[in-house]
Amino acid sequence: MDLMRKKSVDDILKNQSPLKRTLRTWDLVFLGIGAIIGTGIFVLTGKGALTAGPGLSLSFLIAAICCGFAGLCYAEFASIAPVSGSAYTYSYIAFGEMIAFIIGWDLMLEYALGAATVSVGWSGYFNSLLESIGIHIPTVLTAAAGTTPGVHTIFNLPAFCIVLLITAIISIGINSTKHVNDTMVFIKLAVIVLFIVCTVWFIKPANWHPFAPFGAYTFHHGTAMGIIPAASIVFFSFIGFDAVSSSSEETINPSKTIPRGILISLAVSTVLYIIMTLIMTGVVKYTAFANYLNEPILAVLHHTGQGWLAALVSVGAILGMTTVILVDLYGQSRISYSMARDGLLPKFFGDVNEKYQTPFKGTWFFGILTAFAGGFINLNILSDLVNIGTLSAFVLVSAGILVLRKTQPDLHRGFRVPGAPFTPIIAMVFCFVLIGGLNWQTWLRFLIWLALGLAVYFGYSHRNSQLHTNK
Ligand code: ALA
Repeated sequence: MDLMRKKSVDDILKNQSPLKRTLRTWDLVFLGIGAIIGTGIFVLTGKGALTAGPGLSLSFLIAAICCGFAGLCYAEFASIAPVSGSAYTYSYIAFGEMIAFIIGWDLMLEYALGAATVSVGWSGYFNSLLESIGIHIPTVLTAAAGTTPGVHTIFNLPAFCIVLLITAIISIGINSTKHVNDTMVFIKLAVIVLFIVCTVWFIKPANWHPFAPFGAYTFHHGTAMGIIPAASIVFFSFIGFDAVSSSSEETINPSKTIPRGILISLAVSTVLYIIMTLIMTGVVKYTAFANYLNEPILAVLHHTGQGWLAALVSVGAILGMTTVILVDLYGQSRISYSMARDGLLPKFFGDVNEKYQTPFKGTWFFGILTAFAGGFINLNILSDLVNIGTLSAFVLVSAGILVLRKTQPDLHRGFRVPGAPFTPIIAMVFCFVLIGGLNWQTWLRFLIWLALGLAVYFGYSHRNSQLHTNK
């Protein structure tokens, strides 16, 4: 049984898809920012601040460095193999089929569960906006069971609905997706800048002391606390830049455009995050976020008395998170499309609809699953699983750069990671540190997910792989 059978770059480049090429650098930056800024900054900063204290901005910096190094590795791979499939396709070249399948399986956690996580964050702001205009959704339908102790909830209806709505948009084609995304990203950035400009004046440096009340890593009542565990939580805020590389087949001149898209969108988000978290923890004491876990930004605005801004920021957050769901669901449909094209998933996922030129059925399949995940599962469980799935993908992509530089040094690389082999090694070290900051329940859930993936691989994919059937 050949588990290491690989694809050559030539084969991959030959196998171009019928998807249309329309995207340029700034489209990708918008796609990247659309995927990056969302639930991480608008929701998880609350839990992050309670975990790290004002040192949360350092947690963001650590997560950003991790993603920056990994982002460079993604960019090199995207310049070698500018086709759909992101880390999945890259590992097919570097490590062979079984690892590639596992990565594809992992990316489902990143994209599909990522979209589900964000839909839950979206729902929090959406509900509070509705409340502020006097509309009440029955409490049982506002969150998954067990979300808030003492509150009887069953199903997150808004989260469920937004995922289905976005699935409908994506399933009818990239052009409508791009326009919807660009407009919403613009509004999201405008609202963030407005938040910064309006609240920076209220910073009281005393709130930043002590800066790191729990140090780098400590256990407090059985929970990991400190800058590193908070970095593992807010790592979620940076996920998404790699979705840019999933759109290679729809990009003009991808070997230059993709690296630029990844790095610019990552840089812009990092700067905004650090400024926002310094403001958030500078305006209110970090402990105040305990009462605002679903909408931490509103803690700041209520404190400064800028209620008028709260509604505006909520709208921005809602639109911002909408784009994240959009890009995640888009990434998911493209990964499953690539895997189906390679025979590792059933053909159903690879069918391109003639009218819309999209993998229509696969998009709906994952859209519906994601909608149910958002409806029934709690946000923290979801986001930790997304983080571990993504961090594992980052480790393999970084390792893949080292492997390919050795095994195929002459491949054409439109972009080379500067400082290799150190850069990919540093990326891996950061990933392991962040995986270490997650809790053991997350590790266990992740192992179960991997075991399930291996069962699918040995039960279906290995036999149906194109590399097997075309022999
Ligand atoms: N980075 C994305 C977010 O924070 C997934 O919502």
